[in-house]
Amino acid sequence: MRAGERTPRAIAALACWLAALAGVSAQSPPASGEAIYRSACLTCHGPDGRGSPRAVVGFATPLPDFTDCAFASAEADIDWFSVVHEGGPVRGLARHMPAFGDALSDADIDAAVAYLRRFCANRAWPAGDLNLPRAFFTEKAFPENEVVYTTAIGRGAEPFVGNEVVYERRLGARNQIEAVVPVDPHRVRMRVWERGVGETQACGSGACAVAVAAIADGTCASPVTVEMPGGDVEVGVDDALALTLTGTAQRVYTADLDAELLARLERAG
Ligand code: HEC
Repeated sequence: MRAGERTPRAIAALACWLAALAGVSAQSPPASGEAIYRSACLTCHGPDGRGSPRAVVGFATPLPDFTDCAFASAEADIDWFSVVHEGGPVRGLARHMPAFGDALSDADIDAAVAYLRRFCANRAWPAGDLNLPRAFFTEKAFPENEVVYTTAIGRGAEPFVGNEVVYERRLGARNQIEAVVPVDPHRVRMRVWERGVGETQACGSGACAVAVAAIADGTCASPVTVEMPGGDVEVGVDDALALTLTGTAQRVYTADLDAELLARLERAG
């Protein structure tokens, strides 16, 4: 809503949650996430997290649907915390999302955000906290239906400037895509795009899935050699669908995960 457009109903809605907030802060010990949500957020976001109708909130800005897991699992807790603490504009959202930093303690905001997370009931969707920022030139772990524009500058014998534009889209809760071309009845050629990393050199579980699919549709028979840019593996598939994956293994990377991040992921299930 632009300035000057404020309707009496919008003011009534604002007054309503301000009054409700007074109720929250009067409570002690600190209220539960559900209690905070009911008193401070429910007027706008609705009892089921889908957003109250325009007739109730009095403004036209669409309210998010927190039960839509594809949307709700895209943001990290810290981003939602900032929106609740500072108000919508801090993340480029509408100012109809008010700032609660003065009215709610940090612990209350954490509890409200944790409560919001429960509206997405399907645990298959990875927690927003797994959506780590693009560290170097890796993909974002869980793309958010966005265009990613990357510029690379190369020095050396053949200097270059290159741009890459990739449109990333969420397809279901978790997925990975393999493109496969059959070579002969015991051999296929595969490229793999792994969510969170982009194209990778090889993928063992993907190779197994491809071998099973190729056998199931009659294109190949066991064993199937799967050629990938990083090397070949052989997949044996027996009648009971027991799989044997044979190939070379080489350590390319080791990493330690921060204890705090691990704890958050554990809590997120
Ligand atoms: C006066 C109405 C109103 C109240 C009260 C309200 N919100 Fe919102 N909220 C909004 C609107 C409108 C948006 C969408 C803004 C946009 O998309 O530009 C929003 C967006 C959000 C978002 C961002 C979602 C995203 O990633 O796009 C979060 C998180 C959120 N609200 C949490 C809360 C919590 C928690 C409370 C209670 C403590 C609360 N809101 C109370 C109106 C409200």
